[in-house]
Amino acid sequence: MSAHILDGKKLAAQLKEELKTKIAAAKHRTAKHPHLVSILIGEDTASQSYALSQQRAAESIGIHYELQKMPAKVSQSDVLALIQQLNGYDKVHGVIINKPLPDHIYFQALMNGLSPEKDVEGMTLINVGRLFLGEPGLVPCTPAAAMALLKFSGEDLKGKKAVVLGRSDIVGKPIALLLLKEDITVTVCHSKTIGLLDHVRQADIVVAAMGKKRFVQGDWIKPNAIIIDVGINDDHGKIAGDVDFDSCALRASYITPVPGGVGPVTSVMLMNNVVEAFKRQINLS
Ligand SMILES: NC(=O)c1ccc[n+]([C@@H]2O[C@H](COP(=O)([O-])OP(=O)(O)OC[C@H]3O[C@@H](n4cnc5c(N)ncnc54)[C@H](OP(=O)(O)O)[C@@H]3O)[C@@H](O)[C@H]2O)c1
Repeated sequence: MSAHILDGKKLAAQLKEELKTKIAAAKHRTAKHPHLVSILIGEDTASQSYALSQQRAAESIGIHYELQKMPAKVSQSDVLALIQQLNGYDKVHGVIINKPLPDHIYFQALMNGLSPEKDVEGMTLINVGRLFLGEPGLVPCTPAAAMALLKFSGEDLKGKKAVVLGRSDIVGKPIALLLLKEDITVTVCHSKTIGLLDHVRQADIVVAAMGKKRFVQGDWIKPNAIIIDVGINDDHGKIAGDVDFDSCALRASYITPVPGGVGPVTSVMLMNNVVEAFKRQINLS
């Protein structure tokens, strides 16, 4: 048996087309368009290339993109002042703060200054609280992408047993909350978990988000399980996931590849949040 591939590029292309249509329709009705501001502090090469890919993704579907560059030595209060200014601009619907940040800048402090309605990364305390309570809000992009790929399988997920490997605030915990919202029974494992293999062996759904190259092995996988691999690890200049793809694909019913799985859908989820934020701010149903 070999698993069906949950193709992130294919899902991302579909979602992008849907967003493009929504944006065009909103523009037609309101003469307004979504506007994303991306704050980039310092000269980190990976952040610069991520910002460039955000710009391409945004502009390809009709989102206006504005890059706000700040020097690495900028003070936290100056960044907060910019964020507060952006909070007050009606034409700005979403703000993203690129990471990594210089050591003297605290991400959560910046987030706490950002209007939750413009928080397209879903990381303000209000949006985290909304996710916790299962209320509508802006959801962090990678967890939203993992869920979108899981649903893309078309399988009935209700009542299934899931194991989430990783409990970080930006990936593992929000994924666990999204799974719970779908009536999935969730176990969260971390570096101190005893008997991790036993948890994985019982799981109908495995979400791997540990940052450990090819950690999950095929013989741990329950036959026909669905595997979502969130990991991005360096593999001699290439990218590898947290799952040993070849052995796991022999047991699973569905599996995401790395690259080409969660990654492409994550960038579309950012754009989806911009569109959601835009619609709410202009009161468009
Ligand atoms: N595809 C995307 O768009 C995307 C976006 C963001 C992140 N990622 C990738 O997702 C992965 C996770 O990212 P992150 O930011 O959540 O990483 P992180 O903050 O380093 O968290 C890693 C989590 O994995 C757990 N862990 C580490 N080693 C473990 C082990 N041997 N057994 C069980 N649990 C273990 C840690 O447990 P403790 O809490 O006990 O330390 C922690 O909860 C990384 O590969 C990252 O590059 C991908």
